[in-house]
Amino acid sequence: MTLHIGALASGRGSNLQAIMDAIDAGKLQAKVVMVVSDRQDAPAMERAASRGIPAVHLPPKEYPDRQSYDRAVADLLQQAGVDTVVLAGYMRLVSAALLARFPGRVLNIHPALLPAFPGLDGQDQAVKYGVRYSGCTVHFVDDGLDTGPIILQAVVPVYQDDTTETLAGRILKEEHKLFPAALQLLAENRLEIKGRRVLIKD
Ligand code: GRF
Repeated sequence: MTLHIGALASGRGSNLQAIMDAIDAGKLQAKVVMVVSDRQDAPAMERAASRGIPAVHLPPKEYPDRQSYDRAVADLLQQAGVDTVVLAGYMRLVSAALLARFPGRVLNIHPALLPAFPGLDGQDQAVKYGVRYSGCTVHFVDDGLDTGPIILQAVVPVYQDDTTETLAGRILKEEHKLFPAALQLLAENRLEIKGRRVLIKD
């Protein structure tokens, strides 16, 4: 089934770019139908607009609380025909108001091997902690902070002379492969959520 992706993004948008590139390369059966951002200046919006994909800025301060903001986001996405929501560098927690509208269809990428180093600056946390390996995780989103069932992970080494930036660069290369790969599994209907675990069907 071709995924109709709605991406939520707050920043640079390199994962969004990787997803659009994978689609163009025929590696991901999907279409990005809309990008919504909480930040007017998010470069992700430009990346979408330059491909003719509607990119909408929705300012959170115009809504009284997270639920009403998320309801407005969900309304926009559903009107655009979105069936799969991708958090592509989205810096806000999503609430049940959005998750309930796309059950089992909201995915996030996190720059660490969850459950290690959730939240902000996963790469920095890994360097400071002194782990030998880190990586990235694509997971289904639940209403916790980076706690949903894990779909795929990729591992990278952490070297003694790594800085947050060098490690982040090594992880980012993997992110750009992992997110499209997880989405393709979803497009092929091969993911089954069983409690905390995600089964990948043959
Ligand atoms: C990535 O490191 C991703 O793992 C995290 O936020 C960053 C977004 O980068 N959730 P980009 O906007 O996709 O370039």
